[in-house]
Amino acid sequence: MPKAKINNIELFWVEAGSGDNVLLLLHGFPLDHTMWLNQVEYFAGRGWRVIAPDHRGYGQSTHNPQEVTTVDLMAQDAAGLLDHLGIARAVIVGLSMGGYVTFAFNRQFPEKVRALVLADTKAEPDPPQARENRYKLRETIRQQGSTAARDGMLPVMFSPELHKQGSPMIDDLGAIMLRTKPEAIMATLPGLAERPDVVPELPGIKAPYLVIHGEKDQLMPVANARLMAEANARAKFVEVPGAGHMANIEDAEFFNRAVEDFLKGV
Ligand code: MLT
Repeated sequence: MPKAKINNIELFWVEAGSGDNVLLLLHGFPLDHTMWLNQVEYFAGRGWRVIAPDHRGYGQSTHNPQEVTTVDLMAQDAAGLLDHLGIARAVIVGLSMGGYVTFAFNRQFPEKVRALVLADTKAEPDPPQARENRYKLRETIRQQGSTAARDGMLPVMFSPELHKQGSPMIDDLGAIMLRTKPEAIMATLPGLAERPDVVPELPGIKAPYLVIHGEKDQLMPVANARLMAEANARAKFVEVPGAGHMANIEDAEFFNRAVEDFLKGV
């Protein structure tokens, strides 16, 4: 499995497919590339070279525990990976925290962007209470480990209906959260709390972008996602019916087809 030394850390990624059409998949918090396995297989089978890294500290990537994992730094790692692989441009796909990193990537490396897919994410910064909660969670994780992140987040990662019914998808996602190193989560929380407001940038984004969002996302209201698309004349919006925050997992089939339709036009 490939790893490369990028920005003083060992960055791990998986890849499948080949050719000049590249999709770079950026995972959410506190997860790793395995949240994208369905998309890796689907798009590799349809002519795309698909690359899914683990952000620094997550999965099999290392990090520097003294350093805050900012969205800018994660974007620099992703750009460094493209350079390492000799890839000039890619479609950048980010879900939730991966979406924040996608915005940071586009801001720092617009020349490397062919198009953006913003899945279950938001452009607004954290309001004061949410920021405070990030720092509190950091202390809880210091004491209790990754279980605290799993217990706090897992109950809202899918639609309320799916949580009521129960599904192996929920246990699988919980397992990723539990195996995420507490140090990685602790390094990221201040970076998430202090991330910039992207709302003013939306109208000026040059790359075509798709906003795709689960109708029943309990973490980030779908109405805000719609506004994120309405802010830019070149943006498109798709709602994933019935799906929650992890829309790419909860209804992978619908998600993949919608992204594929968008990609036909970029
Ligand atoms: C995610 O799913 O990546 C997180 O919920 C993002 C966040 O905590 O803001």
